[in-house]
Amino acid sequence: MQMGMSKQGQELVAKSLEALLADTYTLYLKTQNAHWNYVGKDFYSMHLLFEQQYQEMAEAIDEIAERVRALGFFVTASFPAFQKKSTLDVSEKEIPPSEMIEDLVTGHEKVICHARKLCQVAENEKDGASVDLLGRRLGTHEKFLWMLKNYL
Ligand SMILES: [Fe+2]
Repeated sequence: MQMGMSKQGQELVAKSLEALLADTYTLYLKTQNAHWNYVGKDFYSMHLLFEQQYQEMAEAIDEIAERVRALGFFVTASFPAFQKKSTLDVSEKEIPPSEMIEDLVTGHEKVICHARKLCQVAENEKDGASVDLLGRRLGTHEKFLWMLKNYL
């Protein structure tokens, strides 16, 4: 109870954040895939948009993982662990540019729904720092979703 949260509460929030970490890492990789493999007349502007988005997510990944550590839990950082915990579909198929954007839109929608539920979990545990982090993740993914939808 050093931080005014129960151990179970800390664990519940930490596990929730680990699930969000897996989703964010997966979406980060999907966005990098789009940055590399997108083709079309608008290649350069899309290439830059994807880059801005994956760079932001790289920073968020670090912040989410460090919040798990601050709550006192080990962060499992491996591709198998992320794949097991992520709710996003992963494919290695080469897909057309429009489907690439649709896939990212779906990914952001899933992360937004996920983060909103986790925000409620953190709120119930009175974990203001995690609520703040999750609120900022919501705002960023909603902004990225709005931007990507303009290209559909
Ligand atoms: Fe690049």
